Amino acid sequence: MSFSKSPLSDQLGFGALVTDLDPAMISDTETRQELIDLWIDRGVIVFRGLPDDPDTQIELSRVFGNPAVHPFKSVTAQGNIQELADITYNPDRGDIVRIGDGPPLGAWMPWHFDLVYVERINHGGILRAKTLPADGGQTGFIDGLEAYTRLPEELRQEIDDLYVVYRFNGDIAGLRHGNEPGIVLDRMNVGSTEIMGQIDKFPAVSHPLVFTQAETGRKVLNFSPWFSLGIEGMDRQNSDRILSQVADVMIDKSNAYFHQWEEGDMVLWDNWRIVHCACGVPANQSRHMQRTTIEGDYGFGRQTEWSEQLESA
Ligand SMILES: [Fe+2]
Repeated sequence: MSFSKSPLSDQLGFGALVTDLDPAMISDTETRQELIDLWIDRGVIVFRGLPDDPDTQIELSRVFGNPAVHPFKSVTAQGNIQELADITYNPDRGDIVRIGDGPPLGAWMPWHFDLVYVERINHGGILRAKTLPADGGQTGFIDGLEAYTRLPEELRQEIDDLYVVYRFNGDIAGLRHGNEPGIVLDRMNVGSTEIMGQIDKFPAVSHPLVFTQAETGRKVLNFSPWFSLGIEGMDRQNSDRILSQVADVMIDKSNAYFHQWEEGDMVLWDNWRIVHCACGVPANQSRHMQRTTIEGDYGFGRQTEWSEQLESA
């Protein structure tokens, strides 16, 4: 073993912390296989102690697949590093939400899979903190494999063959299922506003609500509250009934891991099973993260004609 590994939490069945990984060993074939196996087994890996730079982040990403270019040009990292997407919050132009009586928050994002609004969902990503806020800024992770095991048997049977329709939506407070109670979007960020103005370029797609992890045969509950429009081929009432129950199980925070960032951390997750969220920062503080988009195709995404029925209902 060319690195040390330990569970992220004794309570959760997913997540691993990797330390003592010599950057020179990232090119070693055996080390690469060990890291891939750990990723598939545990879903989330926190790397601590690696050199804090984009080159290491991209090289590490290559262990798990090809770093792809994000479909939104507006997020390509400064310096035009194609393999990196900037995930930034700027107090002057970012999203601002309020949750109930809480203070205004920037850099807040609901539970989601990355790129679930396109047919080919990327297999993963590595997130690195470039500028950390003084307070807050945690990233939450929940395992769809574990969530599947928590479903009541009756619901499990009902959803087995269903597909969910997804479309990009910049309204992070307007989720149909899995919304934080009392959330209000005070300002939509500039990038999302621009994309919403040309949303026809991003037609709706659908993804199965349950699929089987190819490497292990385990079933994954595959629901992203953000971007979801509803169940393909189903009327609004039934779709809402099912997805509200699914959301309750999928994003149950008592089964989440919340990562408190330390400078230099890199966090990898399996985007085909792990939903994630950003807990937000005080609205007057900046946050700058950079993410790789690790290519892949699980083969189940497809175009759909069903979005109009759901969007108008
Ligand atoms: Fe994300």
